[in-house]
Amino acid sequence: MVDNGNIDATSFAETVDREITLENMNKMRGRRKWKRYGADIIPFWYSSPDYPVPPEVKEAAARAIEDECFEYSWFPETLEAMAETTRSKYLIDSTVEDVKVIPGVEPSLYLSTMYACKPGDEVILPSTMFGPFIRAIDYVHAKPVYHEIRQEDDWRFDLEEMKSLVTDRTKLIFLCNPHNPTGRVMTEEELKGIADIAVDHDIIVATDDLHDNILFDGRKHVSIASLGPEIAERTISMFGLSKTFGLAGIQIGWLVATNKEILAGINKIAEGLIQGTSSIALAVAHAVLTKCDPYIPPLVDYLQGLRDYGVKRLKAIDKVNVVPPEGTYILWPNISDYGLTSAEMQEYLLEKGKVAVSDGSSHGPGGEGYIRIVFPTSKAIFSEGLDRIEEALSRL
Ligand SMILES: Cc1ncc(COP(=O)(O)O)c(C=O)c1O
Repeated sequence: MVDNGNIDATSFAETVDREITLENMNKMRGRRKWKRYGADIIPFWYSSPDYPVPPEVKEAAARAIEDECFEYSWFPETLEAMAETTRSKYLIDSTVEDVKVIPGVEPSLYLSTMYACKPGDEVILPSTMFGPFIRAIDYVHAKPVYHEIRQEDDWRFDLEEMKSLVTDRTKLIFLCNPHNPTGRVMTEEELKGIADIAVDHDIIVATDDLHDNILFDGRKHVSIASLGPEIAERTISMFGLSKTFGLAGIQIGWLVATNKEILAGINKIAEGLIQGTSSIALAVAHAVLTKCDPYIPPLVDYLQGLRDYGVKRLKAIDKVNVVPPEGTYILWPNISDYGLTSAEMQEYLLEKGKVAVSDGSSHGPGGEGYIRIVFPTSKAIFSEGLDRIEEALSRL
């Protein structure tokens, strides 16, 4: 990563292009992303970036180890930093009392569902969605009720349809904003419409905003809980550090519930099972939240260039359809015109193209016909992977 104080888009791009090469990656650091399928495979399957973390992250981790922060974790300044970020960045009227540290956003999806639902209750969510949302619903024997989102609508929500799905058993609405896997960023107007449905029908909203920093074309992230006290008091907001700088392995995130009853209920479920996270993770999170924001604009600039390049390359392939993502580092092309299922296409590209993508069908009922390409790498690696995909598809 470029030196602090000299963080600009050009030097960031130069560093990534110089350091992130196939040769470097192939011998790299035991990372699951690169190791799972072997050195000859380009990994677009895993949502983790290749670019190096900011030096502040490594320094914070090293200092925590040097200071022997191995006791039960106690970092009130990290909680304060989370609360401050929640207030100043996400504009949620909250205090440190409303924040709970969780070892990642994924456990928060489960805690929210366990809090809001009993077996047989209904959860409204989009027909295409990051798999763990669906598994969390299944875990509590609740019922997923999908509102359809469509590629031809650029993945926008149809709020009338959403409203028509509400029943007496609807206890939870799940949001993922920005959305994994479509890359959609919800507008304030859309979120207000969802807030109205939730308030009118007394439904809890749990929103996973993990990809909130990766926004293209000047878009702004809006947290639904910032839209007023009525929606705030029924929202569980989930934030984390796993995506922007690739810190999933340190296992930290936080949830915010300004409604004391909700937070107490979640604490009760988590009691003894989830005791915050490690001291090292808390030290790192403090550094990320207080020092690393300047790295974000050049990063997003670089990713937007990759997004544009990837969309152009995919659109040039006859039978592939793709909507440019508005945020996230994920492409979600439709490949159904090839007459293969998503699982078959994933296997074909792995075997014949030497590229690992994800099978869209694990992302809800709307995921069949799609593959997921995760692209936070260098232009050289991205372009090599796209060459391989194009060549393999040309043989079908
Ligand atoms: C939308 C979304 N939520 C949650 C997660 C998992 O988050 P964490 O690593 O913080 O548990 C991911 C990881 O890809 C994700 O994309």
